[in-house]
Amino acid sequence: MMMSGVSRGLKVERIHGEQFRKALIEMGIFDHCRKIISDESNVYLPVLEMDEQAAARLRQIAKFEWEDRYFQPEKHNPTPEELLGFRPSFDVVGDIAIVEDIDAERVARALMSCNKSIRTIIAPVSGVEGEFRTRRFRHVAGEVRTITTHKEHGLSYRMDLESVYFTPRLGTERLRIASQIRPNDVVLDMFAGVGPFALLIAKRKAKVIAMDKNPVAVKYLRENARKNKIEDIEILEGDANELALRYVGIADHVIMNLPHSASKFLIPAIGAVKSGGIVHYYAIAPKEDLFRDWTMIASAAEQIGVGVELAYQGVVRSYAPRRFNVVIDFRVSR
Ligand SMILES: C[S@@+](CC[C@H](N)C(=O)[O-])C[C@H]1O[C@@H](n2cnc3c(N)ncnc32)[C@H](O)[C@@H]1O
Repeated sequence: MMMSGVSRGLKVERIHGEQFRKALIEMGIFDHCRKIISDESNVYLPVLEMDEQAAARLRQIAKFEWEDRYFQPEKHNPTPEELLGFRPSFDVVGDIAIVEDIDAERVARALMSCNKSIRTIIAPVSGVEGEFRTRRFRHVAGEVRTITTHKEHGLSYRMDLESVYFTPRLGTERLRIASQIRPNDVVLDMFAGVGPFALLIAKRKAKVIAMDKNPVAVKYLRENARKNKIEDIEILEGDANELALRYVGIADHVIMNLPHSASKFLIPAIGAVKSGGIVHYYAIAPKEDLFRDWTMIASAAEQIGVGVELAYQGVVRSYAPRRFNVVIDFRVSR
């Protein structure tokens, strides 16, 4: 067993030290959090877990020995970018990092060596797909699981990443919406997922009605409401096109965060808003015509016989090359 404070190292002759260091960095197994040691004849390099393939590659450089010793910690913990030589694209949800599938193992090693709070690394093997907007993942490193608890704006959200939709990239947008809500406002969240809009808003003393068709998302939404001690919330499982019809002309705000197909839900959404209320409508649109959905909004309003007026429009985030996730806030008048 290794003594505490002692970690795995490689002992190599001084003349080969630099070559070994470079090879370890290239393979992503150099431990950047610890300092190299050297004496008159040898260099001791701190290393992470290494497999037989890596050891074979090192043997081609020169002879080496394993040497477990106390390597002083580096004062400055390097960033993943410094370790890899490029900026990896990844999201952190709770203690799980989601990395791109290209070079995932190397990126995973760099992330885990820099960030001790990351316990699991997964990579998507599908796009966001299906009615419930979920992704399939493969396990890359660390603990084998897709369930985690994510903290955002003082609330915690438990979820299974493989069974529900969640992105930490909408955190700022959620605050923008929440900041418009006044106590006692009625807010309808038509596509609530595990609750990041709904619970943040309910915490501000609004009366929230949150719905989702995915039973697993609804299970977590209920659990998250309970864990965050939020009682004034109505949670419904089912199709928003049918459920929203129960609420006619009562909402101060309606949130429609289903960007690929929100237009199909415009009639019940507009129907649920009281005069002067606002619909927050999300879409995916090409760079050349970011707010093209306005035509569909205006035509749905005309069908119901209400007026709509633009309150705000903006880009939320980039979504794919030349495609953006946009928001259109519009006010309804009856
Ligand atoms: C893009 S996600 C947004 C979730 C959540 N608002 C968030 O920010 O994390 C869209 C959600 O709509 C749900 N959904 C899809 N079709 C639905 C429908 N017909 N009725 C209700 N919910 C639906 C999905 O299950 C998913 O949870």
